[in-house]
Amino acid sequence: MRIIGTGSSLPQQVVTNEDLSKIMDTSDEWISSRTGIKERHLAKEETTVSMSAEAAGRALRNAGIKAEDVDLIIVATITGDYITPSTACEVQAELGAEHAAAFDINAACSGFMFALHTAYAYLQTGIYKTALVVGAETLSKIMDWSDRSTCVLFGDGAGAVVVRAGGEESNEEGNGGGLLAFEQGTDGSRGKVLACEGRKNQNPLVQNPFVPSYVDMDGQEVYKFAVSTVPASILRVLEMSGTAAEDIKYFVLHQANIRIIQSVAKRLKADIEKFPVSLDHCGNVSAASVPILLDEMNQKGMLARGDKIVMSGFGGGLTWASAVIEW
Ligand code: UT7
Repeated sequence: MRIIGTGSSLPQQVVTNEDLSKIMDTSDEWISSRTGIKERHLAKEETTVSMSAEAAGRALRNAGIKAEDVDLIIVATITGDYITPSTACEVQAELGAEHAAAFDINAACSGFMFALHTAYAYLQTGIYKTALVVGAETLSKIMDWSDRSTCVLFGDGAGAVVVRAGGEESNEEGNGGGLLAFEQGTDGSRGKVLACEGRKNQNPLVQNPFVPSYVDMDGQEVYKFAVSTVPASILRVLEMSGTAAEDIKYFVLHQANIRIIQSVAKRLKADIEKFPVSLDHCGNVSAASVPILLDEMNQKGMLARGDKIVMSGFGGGLTWASAVIEW
């Protein structure tokens, strides 16, 4: 399975740390030094579906294929516009991808990686040939804007890739490249350290006053989880693929905090220059962060055929997922 096209979409409205410091008790100094985030895009007119469809359309154009050629659409999101239909179903309609089956995946910040691995399973078994994998979030609608410890961290946006079953063209080692190894994991027992409660039952047998719920995070617990789990997961996929860390051109990590990225680089003894960053201008976009960053790299011409790349997502669930791919 190869990634043959990428695309992304960000809301027009850019909100800087300085802007936030005018409406809450925070500062550019605190946000920048603790997280590396400088600004983020926040949706006004945009929705999870509109950004997903725009990112997906751009990925299709980048791949040079038509919507009718897509067999499968998976959208990773925790902030769909509707409970049903799923975001993926709406994207299918927007694109006119009439032959595609479509569904959403909820694995929070690991969602894009879980979706990519799910697409891989369908492609590997020969069920489908071409898939669109999207990560999209409108996190600003589930933020508690009176909680400065969470609302300053997150942003809105979408990223997408087109993946195609292939391997017909062998590389020097005699394999077709693409996805070389992956793993994913879950620790549901610690899930409540990053949570957003769903709707309570309002049926006539119960009395639940309607109270909207928002993201609640124990940042330090999630931080500890990330800096221990992510390097271990990456080391496992490197070993599974028979690849040394030195042979990896880029480590494309979920963009939550620059200090997490620096810690992972240190534990892997890898050059920090190999860890591209988008969190400075996007904030944490949960499931969308990895595909947005990948698209930025692709647009800048940073990715060449044969490059080996690690991608890793981690976060709510708790969940994590890593892969080694050959571009
Ligand atoms: O994508 C999902 C994965 N999520 C993550 O990976 C998040 C991981 N966690 C983190 O990145 C960090 O824990 C945070 C950036 C969320 C927080 O950094 P921290 O160094 O753990 O700060 P803290 O929560 O311990 O807060 C330190 C202080 C507190 O004040 P006191 O109690 O020491 O007086 C907070 O009240 O900073 C205060 N604080 C703020 N101050 C200014 C919290 N938020 C803010 C803020 N502006 N926005």
